[in-house]
Amino acid sequence: TAARLTFDPQLPVGAVNRRVFGSFVEHLGRSVYDGIYEPGHPSADAEGFRSDVKALVSELGVSAIRYPGGNFVSGFRWEDSVGPRSQRPARLDLAWHSAESNQVGLHEFATWLDSVGSELMLAVNLGTRGTLEALDLLEYTNLRSGSARAVERAANGRTEPFDVRMWCLGNEMDGPWQLGHRSADDYGKLAAQTARAMRMFDPTLELVVCGSSSRSMPTFSDWERVVLSHTYDDIDYISCHAYYEEKDGDLASFLASSVDMDEFIESVIATIDHVKAAKRSDHVVNISFDEWNVWYNTRFETVDKITGAQNWPTAPRLLEDAYSVADAVVVGSLLISLLRRSDRVTSASLAQLVNVIAPIMTEPGGIAWKQTTFFPFAVTSELASGQSIPTHIECDLYETDAYGSVPVIDAVTTFDAATGSVSVFLVNRSQTDPVTLSFDIADFGTVLEASARTLSDDDVYAVNTLEDPERVTLRQNETLVHSEGVAVVELPPVSWTAISLR
Ligand code: AHR
Repeated sequence: TAARLTFDPQLPVGAVNRRVFGSFVEHLGRSVYDGIYEPGHPSADAEGFRSDVKALVSELGVSAIRYPGGNFVSGFRWEDSVGPRSQRPARLDLAWHSAESNQVGLHEFATWLDSVGSELMLAVNLGTRGTLEALDLLEYTNLRSGSARAVERAANGRTEPFDVRMWCLGNEMDGPWQLGHRSADDYGKLAAQTARAMRMFDPTLELVVCGSSSRSMPTFSDWERVVLSHTYDDIDYISCHAYYEEKDGDLASFLASSVDMDEFIESVIATIDHVKAAKRSDHVVNISFDEWNVWYNTRFETVDKITGAQNWPTAPRLLEDAYSVADAVVVGSLLISLLRRSDRVTSASLAQLVNVIAPIMTEPGGIAWKQTTFFPFAVTSELASGQSIPTHIECDLYETDAYGSVPVIDAVTTFDAATGSVSVFLVNRSQTDPVTLSFDIADFGTVLEASARTLSDDDVYAVNTLEDPERVTLRQNETLVHSEGVAVVELPPVSWTAISLR
């Protein structure tokens, strides 16, 4: 079948914020221990971090990294994770029923971030702790000198402050599973008090208040309204979290997951702007989509839970989904959805980074490899720049049980007027038909170089594994041609494609 794209380069949606290419490292499973950190590994650096993993994280092009949780943060005492390693206490992590050695903490993680070129996005514990502990942590990380916390940091080896800019005020506080879960009203008051206190220290901090842990929560949207009514002028972002999976063999609906993400984003924007109007505020609050991915959560729920606190393991294999070609196509379309609202989604974190629902996998003592989902993330991060521009799609529709009639093609375009670079990100959701896509490029001036990379496979369930780590890779899409201001490309069924024009 055929499809056509048209653009409005003169009416950009908003600038692409690099923070949209963030990720997330939680003390969970083998994300940290036996993931980024494995002192005995042949590639380990002097700090015990795996260099092969660092190289992959750099290649992935990750901006800010959210840390240290997740559900983990709601039981975390940050003080345990600083100071001489030999004196750090081991603790139980109630969220994931694991043992936490605290051998990797704030200083080690910040050093690792410097080595991969990413920024720290820190979450404070508003589950079992409160404003004072958040202030202690802020003083420890951001005050140059002149208080006990700054002296302590310097004594622990870091004279210069960490100068953390982005702070999450708790995690998923609407979720009954969360340690310290509370009502929107109670959380809103605590978050507002903490935000105001942190801003007394530094009014330029960027603060993220917890939105709903998913759009399907019964309290969704009322939660946002109430929390924002307490916090609106004291914060910059409200979080969104969303995970998608193929359910009951319904690949057609799963491939349309970005329809749900679009609606989620639109309804949170509407709620933010409702509170803004009600408050007669000039302040703009945006979205930090700080947990998003494909996650086979229903598989996790059927796995036997770790019981018996006497025997909780260190770094168990938890949430280690192996991602298929179809999963990568969905990840590509979720990135399209985030970029489509570049004006309001100005921060996002792929959850997570290594081993735990992650684009990068490791084997202790062995190799590190790229999951299928690595490719759309790395290439979108590499190519998206300048402004997101309106991209109109003329194409066939198909029926889904979850979302009704859905366009076969999903697409977004970025245009960097400074460099003349145009990037078009495309998904073909059809399970049967290739699509011949054409689009007008005359508006973008002279095109000297044009290239396309595509992820697709005859087996949409093909995955990369320890035994076969390069089973699925990206390939150049040689069908791309352009002449007289029109470009044409073939998009195979169930595929993700990035086109770069310069
Ligand atoms: O990313 C895994 C978990 O998903 C996080 O700990 C939590 O915030 C969410 O429910």
